[in-house]
Amino acid sequence: MCGIVAYIGPREAYPVILKGLKRLEYRGYDSAGVALLNSGLKVYKKKGKVADLEESIVGKDLHANIGIGHTRWATHGEPNDRNAHPHLSNGGRLAMIHNGIIENYAALKQELLKNGYHFQSDTDTEVLLNFIEYIQVNNNCSLEEAVRIALKRVVGAYVIVLIDQENPDTLIAARKGSPLVIGIGKNEHFLASDASPIIEYTKEVVYVNDYEVAIIKPDELILKNLGNERQTPYITKLDMELAAIEKGGYDHFMLKEIFEQPQTIYDCLRGRLDADLGTITMSGIEKYKEQIMNANRIVMVACGTSWHAGLVAEYIFEELCRINVEVEYASEFRYRNPVINKGDVIIAISQSGETADTLVAIENAKKQGAIILGVVNVVGSSISRVSDAGAYTHAGPEIGVASTKAFTAQLAVLTMIALKIAHDRGSIDKERYHRLLHELNDVPDKVKATLEQHEHIKAIAEKYKDSTDSLFLGRGYNFPVALEGALKLKEISYIHAEGYPAAEMKHGPIALVDEKLPVVFVATRDSYHEKVVSNMQEIRARKGRIISVINEGDEQSTALSNDVIVVPEADEILAPMISVIPLQLLSYYVGVARGFDVDKPRNLAKSVTVE
Ligand code: AGP
Ligand code: GLU
Repeated sequence: MCGIVAYIGPREAYPVILKGLKRLEYRGYDSAGVALLNSGLKVYKKKGKVADLEESIVGKDLHANIGIGHTRWATHGEPNDRNAHPHLSNGGRLAMIHNGIIENYAALKQELLKNGYHFQSDTDTEVLLNFIEYIQVNNNCSLEEAVRIALKRVVGAYVIVLIDQENPDTLIAARKGSPLVIGIGKNEHFLASDASPIIEYTKEVVYVNDYEVAIIKPDELILKNLGNERQTPYITKLDMELAAIEKGGYDHFMLKEIFEQPQTIYDCLRGRLDADLGTITMSGIEKYKEQIMNANRIVMVACGTSWHAGLVAEYIFEELCRINVEVEYASEFRYRNPVINKGDVIIAISQSGETADTLVAIENAKKQGAIILGVVNVVGSSISRVSDAGAYTHAGPEIGVASTKAFTAQLAVLTMIALKIAHDRGSIDKERYHRLLHELNDVPDKVKATLEQHEHIKAIAEKYKDSTDSLFLGRGYNFPVALEGALKLKEISYIHAEGYPAAEMKHGPIALVDEKLPVVFVATRDSYHEKVVSNMQEIRARKGRIISVINEGDEQSTALSNDVIVVPEADEILAPMISVIPLQLLSYYVGVARGFDVDKPRNLAKSVTVE
């Protein structure tokens, strides 16, 4: 989620906040806003860039020594002026900015509506803000106390900063799950999502912990927990340079996003999957559940990495839901005059939500009566707006051109949809359904364990970085993973790489095999494993150099491989979210070893909005 900046002290607040928001632009966002307090609260906000906001308020009264600023990455309510932050409470006394997701906002909103509250926006943020005001008024307590009481009722992730019109010398902030850094100046304090807006003013910072509330005056910083007990602020000295801060200490956005995947998969499942209750809650799918359950066929439409996610989904949906699934390249689907029957369900998969081929493909299909479901990362994007319904992947902004965390988030969402439909269709037995829900819950930890192998994978990358060709092979659920691994290597290192079904290699590509050719096998233990091992033997017999992604204890594959990467075992339906991780890291380290700009590979765009 995106960016917050706040200031209190002797300086003019607006220039500090504006510059700070510009420092946070790298995180990706869709709208921006600022609230300043000086003889009344002034709120300026709009969809678009920080520069658009800046231009729109030239000449306005921007004088203040206390203010809050925000760059929004929409999760609830599409990007527009009224959904932008800061939000004002009903009483007009409080202004707030928020990064994160309030999962139980709907229940809180109902409570507030019953008590006469009204809302200007569609956001979860405005609900939390009014809930805080409602508590402050009803309990006749301080804002600080109201924040603590309210946050005990909140389910979700947040960093919030509030300004109270009647207390111009105080900022109140709190966090859980989203980052908050407080810069300690001389008689002034700076707040931000990371240190990049702070570092030019001070290197002394406090990293606020989860469930802590900060009460900030120019010359005083108090930290408390939700139980109103004082916490000691630990001041640390920043030792990172600005560029490093933007990447969270990683060398590249791509590496940062690869390592974010335990959290982003968790964020994707959060509020939807409850393994203990055996439920999957996806309101966007709920509305069309009957049509999906009774569809004659489901067509996955996408491009690139998203198309690979669709291929994995084909195997999952057919296995679990017993519904016929087809996977189409959007660019082919839109031009070949496909047969679309009324009631066909089309699932459009897209990180950016702006890919021209995917967008036009679903517009055409919609005109012919298909139901369109979007699995999209960018809230309010064109594809999400054309879709009849869908589910956001909540992977957060993906800055690296090569898609990594968006892919695993797409798989998590598609798996939840398939499980939900299979359960309601009765096409999956109860034991397997409940087992898969618990195993799905465990995926973030298994991805985390896989990431711990990064040094080993880096060493393998060093060995093969000068290759000119490569093959990626897999079967079943791992076949699309092989395709994705090949795409990643191509994109990032410019080495020609080809993904193939392992069995298909005998029908031609095996001619490429010699002692120079690296062949990557995605060979985690599943119903195809014995066959994949036979394919490994065929490559071995021709002196190919085998790198295999396997599970613990796979002696056969180990004996046949030059290098192995061991990943945690999982049900074959869930394995792609884990087995793709080593391939993402392999392509990253090969690209870095070859000296390329892995965040912005040559010839590539992050979103292909041209046909
Ligand atoms: C993936 O690494 C590529 N950057 C590219 O193939 C991408 O997946 C494709 O352009 C589709 O983009 P979308 O998911 O935003 O629609
Ligand atoms: N969930 C809030 C919204 O959609 C905050 C999003 C963010 O983190 O920027 O407005």
